[in-house]
Amino acid sequence: MAEDLFIDDTLSKEEKYQALLPQIEALVAGETDLIANLANVMAALKQTFGFFWVGVYLVKEDQLVLGPFQGPVACTRIPFSRGVCGACYTRRETIVVPDVEAFPGHIACSSASKSEIVVPVLKDGEVKMVLDVDSDRLNDFDAVDRKFLEQLMKLAENWF
Ligand code: SME
Repeated sequence: MAEDLFIDDTLSKEEKYQALLPQIEALVAGETDLIANLANVMAALKQTFGFFWVGVYLVKEDQLVLGPFQGPVACTRIPFSRGVCGACYTRRETIVVPDVEAFPGHIACSSASKSEIVVPVLKDGEVKMVLDVDSDRLNDFDAVDRKFLEQLMKLAENWF
């Protein structure tokens, strides 16, 4: 049974992540369906932080394919060799991009996107998907986002 999120708007970003994580854990507890859980997690992130775009790209054969997201319509397929998402897949580590125009090969699904963080989800040594968060402001992601989004994406390993 889904319930509303309770996140005080006056909290700092770090405090919001701290308040959100246990609520997301409760939201996905007992549900193992990948798409259902991803859909709710993307909605929870959008609702809490108001991200410009937040969503996932799932590894399917030799490409990344768009999965559940919140925000404007986006590119559906990304080759492993392209974009921040492709670089995240290849490097198998989180990439924080303070200015997308300075990232070689960045794919602009929206010209409003200015900075970005992409976090991989690995299972049994293989990248299964990447979480992509875009901001319409420069330099909007830092070590706090990295820490908590990586922690959050650990949950997703159980859904593959
Ligand atoms: N900017 C990403 C593409 C995905 S969209 O931003 C939603 C990239 O360079 O991989």
